[in-house]
Amino acid sequence: MNIKLIPTNEVKKTGSLIIPIFEDIPISKLPEKILDTTVKNYINKTIKQNKDCTSIGKINILPVTNHKNYNQILILGLGNTNKLSINEFRINLAESIRRVKRSNTKSLYLLSYKQLYKNFPIIDFGQVISESTTLGLYQFNKYKTKSTKISIQYFYIIEENKKNYDEINQGISNGEIISNSVNLCRDLVNEPANYMTPTQLAEEATEISINNNISIKILETSDMKKLGMGAILGVAQGSNEPPKFIIMRYEGDPKNKSNQLGIIGKGITFDSGGISIKPSRNMGDMKGDMAGAAAVISSIQAISKLKLKINVTSIAVATENMPGGKAQRPGDVVKTFNGKTIEIDNTDAEGRLVLADAVAYANSIGIKKIIDIATLTGAIRVALGNICTGAFGNNKKFTSQLIESSINTGENIWELPIYEEYKEQYQSDIADIKNTGGMYAGATTGAMIIGEFVGDSSWIHLDIAGTSTTNITKGYNIKGATGIPVRTIVDLAQNLQSKK
Ligand code: BES
Ligand code: ZN
Ligand code: MN
Repeated sequence: MNIKLIPTNEVKKTGSLIIPIFEDIPISKLPEKILDTTVKNYINKTIKQNKDCTSIGKINILPVTNHKNYNQILILGLGNTNKLSINEFRINLAESIRRVKRSNTKSLYLLSYKQLYKNFPIIDFGQVISESTTLGLYQFNKYKTKSTKISIQYFYIIEENKKNYDEINQGISNGEIISNSVNLCRDLVNEPANYMTPTQLAEEATEISINNNISIKILETSDMKKLGMGAILGVAQGSNEPPKFIIMRYEGDPKNKSNQLGIIGKGITFDSGGISIKPSRNMGDMKGDMAGAAAVISSIQAISKLKLKINVTSIAVATENMPGGKAQRPGDVVKTFNGKTIEIDNTDAEGRLVLADAVAYANSIGIKKIIDIATLTGAIRVALGNICTGAFGNNKKFTSQLIESSINTGENIWELPIYEEYKEQYQSDIADIKNTGGMYAGATTGAMIIGEFVGDSSWIHLDIAGTSTTNITKGYNIKGATGIPVRTIVDLAQNLQSKK
């Protein structure tokens, strides 16, 4: 979609108008130019009829019959001007745009004025506009044979102050890059597992690399054998689909080799549980067990398109977890990349296995800052529900930088503790450790098992099992994959850049 800033006198096409209003600004104080008498009468009528139009998130839609440009007006309440946060603005603008779209609008107008962006930098205001639009209008309808694709074609921001155009436009274009990458992540996750195999994921990653100045190296089964990645191979051996270890590298700061971030994603393209097979209820959701891998591939794409001054390596560890005749058994012992042995107590605890090899590999190639992203445990959903990602880490500063970014983006992340005492829970009688930690603190022991393999790297584990998908369409989220935590990773990379 085309997003364009225009002054009032350039409003030409017929379309819908979104008017944000606040409790502490009387309608009479809104920008004069755009609010002609007809529009004002509509607003005043609505305000009279409804007790509350101004609280945050209140939406009123009015069909308009006698205006030369607007055939629909949406009044969006945003509460108090001093309290509006950028995250609330993103959520509510997305909701409004989607509501307007229902009536087949081709052109959309948003009334913009200075109180809207007084709490945050103007560039962020631009970014939020394109994010709400691109994220909020996302659809996954590739497999609908009769898809009726209606879409808004033009989005005009009516803003009188031309001095702000450059900054808003810069924000709009950043927001477009970021939210297109979030939508790429959503696409990869929403794809069914018969299409999104490890091989297909590797192909998508290859295409993204070619188009984005990213280098790529894919380790095949034979390479993994040579490197001694017994944990991944153990998970993969129950499937007919070959595993892929997809390494992508973006060099945005070549003079400063040490400025580098590693992002590693769990890429189980289907998790049946293996021999410790899952119950059939909702098993189809396990096509999304590669959301971590999708997030790292999408993040590196955005980071490269934004040309950030940082070096980033992403690793997507892709395999199925299936119960085929060659599948690994509970009780088996595997040897990992760094030599440690793991007893397989439960073949459904496969994420930590593939990530053990991956983080150990990342450490071995000199990556000193590692974030792994994984739909790792049902236990994190018990602990934090579906509105917050769990974080675990071994370096306070690094973790707090990431949490800071999550506050900027509104993708909630909460840190949970790691205590040495939990280690007892995953000791094995015959191997160095086992792959499960028992009933209690399941998200923590899962994280700590991965942590056993990071060596001297600073490391954060993000458990996105509760947040990678949603079952309701709300704000900028659409039922299905959320694309979490791409925006947060990009924000962190922005903050870790070398000074320009
Ligand atoms: N992929 C699952 C975790 C999951 C559950 C993700 C629900 C999204 C929604 C993971 O591989 C798994 O099966 N974890 C087990 C670990 C247990 C066997 C120690 C779990 O959480 O039950
Ligand atoms: Zn899994
Ligand atoms: Mn599993």
